[in-house]
Amino acid sequence: MRILGIPGSLRSASTNRGLLRAAQELAPSGVEIEIFDLHEIPLYDGDVEAEGDPAPVAAFKRAIRDADALLIATPEYNRGVPGVLKNAIDWASRPALAPPLAGKPVGLMGASTGLGGTANAQRQLREALGFPRARVLEGPRVLVASSYEKFVDGRVVDAETRASVRELVEALVAEASTEQTARAA
Ligand SMILES: Cc1cc2nc3c(=O)[nH]c(=O)nc-3n(C[C@H](O)[C@H](O)[C@H](O)COP(=O)(O)O)c2cc1C
Repeated sequence: MRILGIPGSLRSASTNRGLLRAAQELAPSGVEIEIFDLHEIPLYDGDVEAEGDPAPVAAFKRAIRDADALLIATPEYNRGVPGVLKNAIDWASRPALAPPLAGKPVGLMGASTGLGGTANAQRQLREALGFPRARVLEGPRVLVASSYEKFVDGRVVDAETRASVRELVEALVAEASTEQTARAA
């Protein structure tokens, strides 16, 4: 089982990247989580797309197609989805009739310094992912508020947060397994 982890922050010390590293540590055996860095993804431009996807975009879309499920860890910027992440989703929503995101099980989690723990960003993300027909899990919800209390040197040290990340990964694996079984039948 292959899960593609997508951090919505480019910061090397990103707590959201830290959530994905925790997911890697806590994943059941046989489940591999690869983290895809969005640094190289250019701004969406329909003229550029018409000439063919730039190499980093093609690699991103291929990684999504090859994955059994996606795990997105998003910060919240100004009560919403960071532009870096929304931009990547815009690329992955194309072509509109057969986007790589269609039918893909997606787990959402997020860490922010505020009290909402990325609830606003995750709500927007759920809506944006619904349009290209991704299948976003309803829960368990991983909303890490006051993140500065829960990470040390980029590692999640809060037991409750680690438990919720583990639960989400397990739910995502269960959803992707059901999907695989249905496809094989
Ligand atoms: C432009 C910007 C806007 C932000 N807006 C919010 C916000 O609306 N709510 C919130 O809880 N935190 C907000 N923050 C703080 C982020 O939660 C914090 O920087 C978080 O650690 C970013 O995630 P990262 O550690 O993965 O980079 C904002 C930070 C930036 C840089």
